[in-house]
Amino acid sequence: MAFPPAFLDELVQRNPIEEVVGQYVSLKRSGSNLFGLCPFHGEKTASFSVAPDKGIFYCFGCHKGGNVINFQMEIEGLSYPDAVRALAKRAGLEVPEDQQYQSRYRQQERLWALHKEAARYFHAQLYAPPGANALGYALGRGMSKNTLTKFGIGYAPDSWTGLVDTLRSKGYTEEELRDSGLVTVSRKNGNLFDRFRDRLMFPIIDVRGNVIGFGGRIMTEDKSQAKYLNSPETLIFNKRKNLFALNLAKKSKLGYLILVEGYMDAIALHQYGFDCAVASLGTALTEDGAALLSRYTEQVVLIYDGDAAGQNATQRAIPILEKAGLQVKVLQMRDAKDPDEFLKKFGADRFRLLLEESSNRVEYQLRAIGRKYDLRDDDQKVRYLQECADLIGCLGSTVQREVYSTRVAETAGIGMDAMKLEVDRARKRRQAKEKKKQEKIDLSPARNLQPKSRTIRYDNLHSARAEEMLLGLCFQEPALLDRTAELTPEMFSAPILGKAYAQMLERHSQGLDVSLGGLVDFTPEEMGHLAGILQRQQGPVNEQALLDCVHTIRREYQTHKVESKDDLLALQSAMKERKGIGP
Ligand code: UTP
Ligand code: MN
Repeated sequence: MAFPPAFLDELVQRNPIEEVVGQYVSLKRSGSNLFGLCPFHGEKTASFSVAPDKGIFYCFGCHKGGNVINFQMEIEGLSYPDAVRALAKRAGLEVPEDQQYQSRYRQQERLWALHKEAARYFHAQLYAPPGANALGYALGRGMSKNTLTKFGIGYAPDSWTGLVDTLRSKGYTEEELRDSGLVTVSRKNGNLFDRFRDRLMFPIIDVRGNVIGFGGRIMTEDKSQAKYLNSPETLIFNKRKNLFALNLAKKSKLGYLILVEGYMDAIALHQYGFDCAVASLGTALTEDGAALLSRYTEQVVLIYDGDAAGQNATQRAIPILEKAGLQVKVLQMRDAKDPDEFLKKFGADRFRLLLEESSNRVEYQLRAIGRKYDLRDDDQKVRYLQECADLIGCLGSTVQREVYSTRVAETAGIGMDAMKLEVDRARKRRQAKEKKKQEKIDLSPARNLQPKSRTIRYDNLHSARAEEMLLGLCFQEPALLDRTAELTPEMFSAPILGKAYAQMLERHSQGLDVSLGGLVDFTPEEMGHLAGILQRQQGPVNEQALLDCVHTIRREYQTHKVESKDDLLALQSAMKERKGIGP
């Protein structure tokens, strides 16, 4: 996916970041920066900054940041190459399509086409004689003909090479078949076989409408086989980053999305008019899944199965969704194990009632606590009240605390004042704990240096602080890179910073401009982190500061090396000893 560096340089130059951002955000100048309301998270004060001289944007609130390409990706939800294309178009530049990228893209396109072909084949089989049983099964489970068409439901016949033969006859190569994940390779002779046999097939379709994988259900209650077999991860299929039925649900007019556990639940909901239902793909909800949801809605209703596993999954999903900025409601399944069963038993109107009384996540969690205790027992009642107070004490709004305190007090039959006292106490306990934690951080030498991001961690804070500073200095004054000959990228303790340093050196040695715009192959989150370093960089650029950084990084590197050597020696001698005592 590599575009030529010279082209990217020109692209960045011809798309001044303040102009591109200015198309989406109204910006006001303050010093050398421009500020506005962050388009990536809801806010009332402007913490979103653009630094035209550095060519970056950075939000001090949500820590998103990067160069103009990253902005384009983030704001329009584009892939890196597509963002480059959009900016090229904006500036009237021709895109030199890179060979490697082109071949990867072509490979993807072939796999999409192959999957479409496979989906057609499965769907046709459902209505052919071998599919009679499967069609009966699908109809028997209440799927209408219209639903079968809408979801492209199909049947993989009980044959070893039905799909393989079909795809071969359409001109797909052995390699493409293997890459598709739809076939298995015989270990004995290397022959290719259909992965899915005698299963009802559910195509998995991404938001752009491409078939990217399948789930296949057995049609018996045979417990020796997996109920669902899913496509493995391929070039085009990542189950953590996609949601079943989102291609349809994204067009819903209902204004919220329903998240369920099963394919069958999502399908039933659509059929009964709740066309905003999506399901995760055989995994627990991930951060990627939540981020995807947040691109299409602000409110999610969680409806997981009524059993213990479903309730645990609900408790885990709540914070993930809230972190993605989503409002969460929870519908507690009752009188049926899942939405599919409920709809079939009681119909859409009863379900709508359930949906209307579905509660926000605090109510839900309070109820979950309530189920754990028997309120007729005084001792249990006290513990119930304390646990509720802990939960309520965490709420930021006074009104919310008031409302829920009243409710809990009523439930437990105690006075409102007693409950209020308990919540206040819980709140103080929590604040004291946080203060202590903060003090600990403040006392540590490299305070607040640990990145805000969840995926980037620093192992050696002391070194990382010097590494960040060094990068900041060199971004401001690239000529300083001539003075760091003693420092190699391997000496960096933080891989992400070492990688940035390596690319900066490389560009500097080629006489290219050293800026964030020139860095490649970083995730959006990493880009945000790098932009943050740059945006926070203050103070004069001087050589002594740089040399101090170089010195610190080298020293930490040396010590660390010795440390790990010591560890190795200790381990070896320990092993010798063990052998000595052994038989
Ligand atoms: P469920 O067992 O609840 O499936 O699993 P379901 O969709 O309600 O199907 P029916 O009603 O029993 O036919 C929930 C989801 O977990 C994944 C699938 O994505 C399924 O939809 N799963 C389940 C698997 O990936 N493999 C399995 O063996 C079982
Ligand atoms: Mn289910």
